[in-house]
Amino acid sequence: MSVDCTINYDLPDLHISRQLLLRNANWLMRKNNVADHNLSVLLVDDEEIAWLNKHYRKISGPTNVLSFPLSESLFSELGDIVISVETAAREAKEKKTTLHAHLTWLLTHGLLHLLGHDHERGEKEAIAMWDLEQKLITELQNTGSNPMTHLAINVDHVATVRNARGITEPDPVTAAAICELAGAAGIVVHLREDRRHIKDRDVILLRQTIKTRMNLEMGANKEIIQIALDLKPEMVTLVPEKRKELTTEGGLNVAGQKKKLAKTIAQMTKAGIAVSMFIDPESKQIQASHDIGATYVELHTGRYCDATNDSERNNEYKMIAASADEAYEMGLRVNAGHGLDYQTTSRIAAIDTIEELSIGHAIITRAVYVGLDQAVREMKKIVSEASMIV
Ligand code: PXP
Repeated sequence: MSVDCTINYDLPDLHISRQLLLRNANWLMRKNNVADHNLSVLLVDDEEIAWLNKHYRKISGPTNVLSFPLSESLFSELGDIVISVETAAREAKEKKTTLHAHLTWLLTHGLLHLLGHDHERGEKEAIAMWDLEQKLITELQNTGSNPMTHLAINVDHVATVRNARGITEPDPVTAAAICELAGAAGIVVHLREDRRHIKDRDVILLRQTIKTRMNLEMGANKEIIQIALDLKPEMVTLVPEKRKELTTEGGLNVAGQKKKLAKTIAQMTKAGIAVSMFIDPESKQIQASHDIGATYVELHTGRYCDATNDSERNNEYKMIAASADEAYEMGLRVNAGHGLDYQTTSRIAAIDTIEELSIGHAIITRAVYVGLDQAVREMKKIVSEASMIV
């Protein structure tokens, strides 16, 4: 029937996505043929689980998960699973896994207890339960419910170097192919009104040659909208554009121009193009993006990257992590980018609700020293490892 997930703790540093847990819990229920039952998942802190542990099991101290079966109930109630997110976070660190991956394991473990499995009844049962757990988790991972963060590469600055000489090299089209061969999951280009780097010829050739996904960054102006509609990239990212800026400065003020942007989204959607809004990590902008029908938001990571001390960077990080979860829980898909480099990327890639990172300048800069293929592979390794390990 339904899974109910209640968050009952106040630990501001532990960001979890209820939506992601619900999705995994529903999948586990279907897989174990109990989708027509009710399940309650309660996420608590160590203090609360320690109280339950003492009260019901006469054991002192916190534990990671407790299951309370209600198998005799008349109402197809499976029962309650209580998880201490505090213990889960500690264990995830020790096991070098993400908090969500570990919570999913605890959820699976708790559910198998509710279904009658018990590892405390002897070695044979313990092994059978462990095997089943591993099987379920592996299958769940393969369904894509625990997605790994993707790396999309922005090749604008290859064009910047080319344009400095007004000739044909280096070519962003060739660079995009090298990025894809080195493992990029997508190519991003920004066709600016002033064509300062990427030109019309580039987007036309890129559209024909990109084998992964093309993400066209653009201001919502008439001429560029028409080019996007003709080109039909897999997605467009709407950004604010000022002629005098060196690069995109702040996020798009979606809340302040909902009507205009809703029209652009409707045009793109009709043409089968997904739309992302490049926004600062703020509730107001997330809500507005959702209201007008965007599929994605791309959270601006510039302030986090530019922070000059740890406390400022931590605050910016928290805002990005909380915004990613908020957007995800609203049903938006979440990307992030701007200013990310070989030091700052890992923490952002570890946020489970972020699907893709858009990185340009740092990779093209490193490519000057070590070659584009190696620069991409090094960044891809950072992103893949971070999205698996906290
Ligand atoms: N995302 C958006 C919306 C951007 O405008 C840019 C810069 O073109 C990037 C990501 C990539 O930023 P950077 O080049 O600093 O990695």
